[in-house]
Amino acid sequence: MQPISLSSPLLLLDQPVLADATLMFEFCQDPVFERFLTVPWPYNASDAETFISRYIPGAWKSDEEYTWALRAPGSTDLMGIICLRVPSGSIGFWLGACHRGNGFIPEAQRLVADWAFAEGIVEAIHWECLVGNIASSRVARKSGFTFTGVGPSLAAYRDGSHPPSWQGWLYADDDRLPKDGWPQEVLAP
Ligand SMILES: CC(C)(COP(=O)(O)OP(=O)(O)OC[C@H]1O[C@@H](n2cnc3c(N)ncnc32)[C@H](O)[C@@H]1OP(=O)(O)O)[C@@H](O)C(=O)NCCC(=O)NCCS
Repeated sequence: MQPISLSSPLLLLDQPVLADATLMFEFCQDPVFERFLTVPWPYNASDAETFISRYIPGAWKSDEEYTWALRAPGSTDLMGIICLRVPSGSIGFWLGACHRGNGFIPEAQRLVADWAFAEGIVEAIHWECLVGNIASSRVARKSGFTFTGVGPSLAAYRDGSHPPSWQGWLYADDDRLPKDGWPQEVLAP
């Protein structure tokens, strides 16, 4: 499909453009990205450029993955990325370190989930993170995902492995309130 934008008073989700490559490259030097994400490592400037100019438009066109840039309304600055893979319904996200702690990811998840459910793109959204990624788990919990346990990651990691991952699901008729059943270390990090 053609890329679409989503927005709320807090956030604009629109298409990453080549002008975002410098900030994307800088944000992706964060050591937590090496530990918790599947992005290339070391992360080079050319990785950001290829992701923006080739991978993202190609994946929208082939309906394999929808990716958005997170921006403050009225600003062109990239703050982070959120994506939804289809048909698995897997959601992925990251924020530049300086933009964390503002509730942007729960809001972005809400916008993407509302759109995906309203358009009938998926019936449920799947979240996973490596065991121990407390920040990711806390935002998934805040967004109303139900924790379903530990299993091999759906996504292959850099070395091709599928490491043990915390997993959860959000269904269209879920009320988006935090659910019981999350690991204790997520509730009290
Ligand atoms: C996951 C991420 C997008 C969340 O960003 P955010 O919504 O701004 O949330 P924060 O980073 O502020 O963290 C969320 C919560 O986890 C807590 N937290 C963050 N890092 C933590 C850590 N290392 N140990 C314990 N708690 C941590 C925060 O204090 C915050 O607590 P709160 O719920 O009481 O506010 C961001 O941390 C990030 O980009 N991380 C690296 C990429 C990543 O892991 N993406 C997810 C892959 S599955």
